[in-house]
Amino acid sequence: MALYAIGDLHLSLGVDKSMEVFGSAWEQYVERISESLSRLRPEDTLILDGDTSWGMTLEQAEADFRFLDAFPGRKLLVKGNHDYWWGTVSKMRRFFDEKGFTTLDFIHNNCAFYGDAALCGTRGWFFEEERKPHNEKMLRRETIRLEASLKAAGEHPILCFLHYPPLYTGYECPDILQLLERYHVRECCYGHLHGYAIRRRIEGTRNGTAFSLISADYLGFAPVKLRD
Ligand SMILES: [Fe+2]
Ligand SMILES: [Fe+2]
Repeated sequence: MALYAIGDLHLSLGVDKSMEVFGSAWEQYVERISESLSRLRPEDTLILDGDTSWGMTLEQAEADFRFLDAFPGRKLLVKGNHDYWWGTVSKMRRFFDEKGFTTLDFIHNNCAFYGDAALCGTRGWFFEEERKPHNEKMLRRETIRLEASLKAAGEHPILCFLHYPPLYTGYECPDILQLLERYHVRECCYGHLHGYAIRRRIEGTRNGTAFSLISADYLGFAPVKLRD
C-alpha cells in the first residue's frame, strides 16, 4: 500500500488540446503517464492535484476519466484552475456512477484518509487570480474551502494538496499560509508551475510545513511516493 501524488496531467483525450505543443518536456506525455500509473496497485491511493483534464464539461472530460479509472488504485481529485468541467461533488459523483467509474473521488470541502493521515486540499490562490474581478470574494471562498477540509481532519496528521503554490519566489498568500500553520499541516504539495515557472518554486520546510512541487512535467510524469 502506498500514497502517491502528481498534479497537472492536462489530459485531453476527449478534446483537441494536446500539451505536446509545449515542447520536448511534454513529448509523449500521455504514454509516459500511462507507463507510470500502470505500476500502481489496487490498494494504493493517488492524489491528482488539479489541472487533470482540458475538457470544458464532464462529457468532454469523460475519456480522460475513463483513462484514469482503468489504472489500479483509488484516485482523489483536487480542483485546478483549468478544470472547467468541475461541478458540485454530488453532480460529479453521479456522473462517475452513471459511467461506471469506480476508482475516482474528490477532495473538496472534505478530507480523505490514508492510514492515520488526513488528506486535505483545495485549489488555493495565486497572484494570477488577483488580476481578475471579484478577487476578494474568491479568495475568501478558497480559504473557507481549505478550512473546511482541514477541520475535517480532526486530530489526524495532515497532508495538504493545493493546486496553486501558496509560496513562490516574490509572492506568498498569507491567508492560505496562516491556515496551514494553524492546523499544523506537515506537508503541503502544490502544482500549477510548468516550464520556465518551475525555477521560481519554493520547496523545503517553513513554519513546520514541508512544501514541494508535484506538477507532472516537473516530476517527469511519474507520481511521487509520499507514504508506504
Ligand atoms: Fe497546469
Ligand atoms: Fe494550473
